[in-house]
Amino acid sequence: MEAPKGGVFFSARELHNLIPFHLTLRAAIELNVFDIIAGAPLTAAEIAAQIPTGNPNASASLDRILRTLAAYGILTVSFSSSSPPAYGLADEFQCLVSSEKSSSVISRAANVLGHALSPGFDSFCEMKHAVLEENTVPFVRAFGVTPYEYFSERPELTKNFNESMANNSKFYIAVVLKTYRGFDGVTELLDVGGGNGTLVGEVIKAYPNIRGLNFDLPFIIDSAPAIPGVEHIAGDMFESIPNAETLMMKV
Ligand SMILES: C[S@@+](CC[C@H](N)C(=O)[O-])C[C@H]1O[C@@H](n2cnc3c(N)ncnc32)[C@H](O)[C@@H]1O
Repeated sequence: MEAPKGGVFFSARELHNLIPFHLTLRAAIELNVFDIIAGAPLTAAEIAAQIPTGNPNASASLDRILRTLAAYGILTVSFSSSSPPAYGLADEFQCLVSSEKSSSVISRAANVLGHALSPGFDSFCEMKHAVLEENTVPFVRAFGVTPYEYFSERPELTKNFNESMANNSKFYIAVVLKTYRGFDGVTELLDVGGGNGTLVGEVIKAYPNIRGLNFDLPFIIDSAPAIPGVEHIAGDMFESIPNAETLMMKV
């Protein structure tokens, strides 16, 4: 199937490939493929040479992954009669590069992993029970605790989740700030459930006169970085939130 311009697309005939496609993408992220090819297109063997493995057949297996991603338009592929195909990252998917090498402000890699790894994946498998059973939350059914209780005991997952949310926020607020004038005249801005404070931090960069407040659960605030112009406040929004002139919420 030829991928149409403008991104990944699935026809009815391709529905069975949704999960294999997503998990192929996950494998490529875990193998660091997008960072490896960020600079220039490379052959499967050249990419495999940069992956720490002693597997002599690594490039053949990797080539299958690369071909799948090329079929969906994520990778470009150039053929020549004298050498094996070279794979590059399509312009639209430069955002999959996790390092600063990308000109994009967003790394989608963390977002993809958020859904393709447990606990995201395992809780999606419980989704039908939210329909069949009263008051059932798929995540709680899978793990016996709420997502935030689960995350609070797993710093690595929390880091990935926060990075994923922050990358999203950075991307969208850059677009919003180009046209939205609602922050004009604001003096104090409280982001409720603001994660690591990236969103309010980006607003403060554009509006340095605003006092920024970032409110989130204690275990999120504990690992939040210092952000100029932003005060972090820990708490539970279902109990109370700090007083502030203006509130903001983004999921
Ligand atoms: C989907 S994330 C959104 C993060 C951020 N607003 C953004 O868009 O990047 C939801 C946020 O709400 C926070 N949160 C969940 N329950 C909360 C509670 N009871 N009190 C305060 N924050 C909470 C989570 O820790 C998480 O950072």
